Amino acid sequence: MNRIVVAAAIIDDTSRMLLLAQRRYPPEVAGLWELPGGKVEDGESRRSALEREIAEELGTAIEAGEQVGAAVVLRPGLELVALRARLAGPPPRALDHTALCWVDAGRLRAMAAAGELVPADTAWVPDLLELLA
Ligand code: CDP
Repeated sequence: MNRIVVAAAIIDDTSRMLLLAQRRYPPEVAGLWELPGGKVEDGESRRSALEREIAEELGTAIEAGEQVGAAVVLRPGLELVALRARLAGPPPRALDHTALCWVDAGRLRAMAAAGELVPADTAWVPDLLELLA
């Protein structure tokens, strides 16, 4: 069976900003920015897995919702899926990442063009720009 990695497109509806997290490891992607998340464990739904991962990595609560864009194949048997989410707890903290930042559509476009996002996540940029418009 395919394993799924879920990632959170946490959007602040008031400011129209998206939360990005800067990876600390492994070396190939250290310093690049991603939608935070992690692997879905056996018996977990995608949404509850994402809520657990965000509690662990960012020390806050989210409400996870609909899928954003298409699934990305990371390698055979491992797929990456983004879910839209909204913050439902205190400000996020970088417990597992180097840094966090909120970006608007213009900044996201610029970071994607500059190659500052992890490769897999760049597939979602058009979908994310639509959500931030
Ligand atoms: O297991 P580990 O903590 O290293 O990684 P993870 O954060 O749970 O992510 C599992 C895999 O998904 C890794 O290969 C990540 O590079 C990839 N990933 C990604 O490409 N984009 C994301 N937004 C999140 C994870």
